[in-house]
Amino acid sequence: PDAPLVLGIETSCDETGVGIVRGTDLLANVIASSMDEHARYGGVVPEVAARAHLEAMTPTISAAVAEAGIRLDDLDAIAVTSGPGLAGALMVGVGAAKALAVALDKPLYAVNHLVGHVGADVLDDTEHLEYPTIALLVSGGHTSLLLVRDLVSDVELLGETIDDAAGEAFDKVARVLGLPYPGGPQIDRLAAAGDPKAIRFPRGLSQPKDMAAHRYDFSFSGLKTAVARWVEKKQDAGEEVPVADVAASFREAVADVLLTKAIAACTDLGVPRLLLGGGVVANARVRRLAEERASAVGIELRIPPLELCTDNGAMIAALGAGLMMAGHAPSSLGFGADSTLP
Ligand code: KG4
Ligand code: ZN
Repeated sequence: PDAPLVLGIETSCDETGVGIVRGTDLLANVIASSMDEHARYGGVVPEVAARAHLEAMTPTISAAVAEAGIRLDDLDAIAVTSGPGLAGALMVGVGAAKALAVALDKPLYAVNHLVGHVGADVLDDTEHLEYPTIALLVSGGHTSLLLVRDLVSDVELLGETIDDAAGEAFDKVARVLGLPYPGGPQIDRLAAAGDPKAIRFPRGLSQPKDMAAHRYDFSFSGLKTAVARWVEKKQDAGEEVPVADVAASFREAVADVLLTKAIAACTDLGVPRLLLGGGVVANARVRRLAEERASAVGIELRIPPLELCTDNGAMIAALGAGLMMAGHAPSSLGFGADSTLP
């Protein structure tokens, strides 16, 4: 039989994403972001995100269907992110997916957003990643380290942030430096002209005692506070803040801790593969350091194209298709949005 034609809906944060795949072939990936509306608040406002999803949902579905050159009737299944994420935002996607599934009389697969990030890999044109693999997912909403033995049936959460997500730390430090939201790309740009060794900022949960209890967990709130204090001190002393050096030193601390833990997971568990996902993977230093450290210890590194790394519906569709092809039963329509889905 032909690989299943699946439409995926993603609304866990500020991106309304609708993607269409046939098996592992990407047919459409349309994204409407409400980021502009959040910018003036300096962060994603859940209620604003939910309202924006509601407005964008139907046009985004139509655009994806047009891009794929299919009719809704042709679909074999619908897939939707049921969590984790912002509850109100998730509900819009789940509601839309259920409506489509009922109206078209097609099976519906509720999927985990984080596992979806890993699923994005199959849409890349290159050869697919083998399992087991370690996945490091870093965005404004999550910083998670996963052991993936099988994409559709065996994903283990090794660790995650105990406070801020890495992208959130970028955004908060950007604010301290007076840069607009979202701050990650701004800091990345400024850091290029700075000295990453100028200031030694703390690496959260990286001391020996922390590595014993939190080997695969992350913490960025101490780093964020350290940067804020350092900048404040300079300002109080009436000195000019060396913004590029602060940005470069901060970026270095984040990249260092992310890759130290991801590579530790690979070597501890004997897994010679590492997949990166999430918006922070756009960071130039994170990418470079990942390449350096992975090649130093012989680990295969996979970084999907950026439009598949950031939140999107295609990765959700791909995971839905994977579940279907592996013979998994669809979800019963009683499921809800689970903002804290593990
Ligand atoms: O995956 P994503 O697009 O959306 C969610 O958070 O769900 O990630 C957005 C996050 C923001 O915090 C943004 O500041 C960060 O990714 N980001 C970056 C870069 N580009 C985006 N952080 C560091 N360096 C970048 N180049
Ligand atoms: Zn995400």
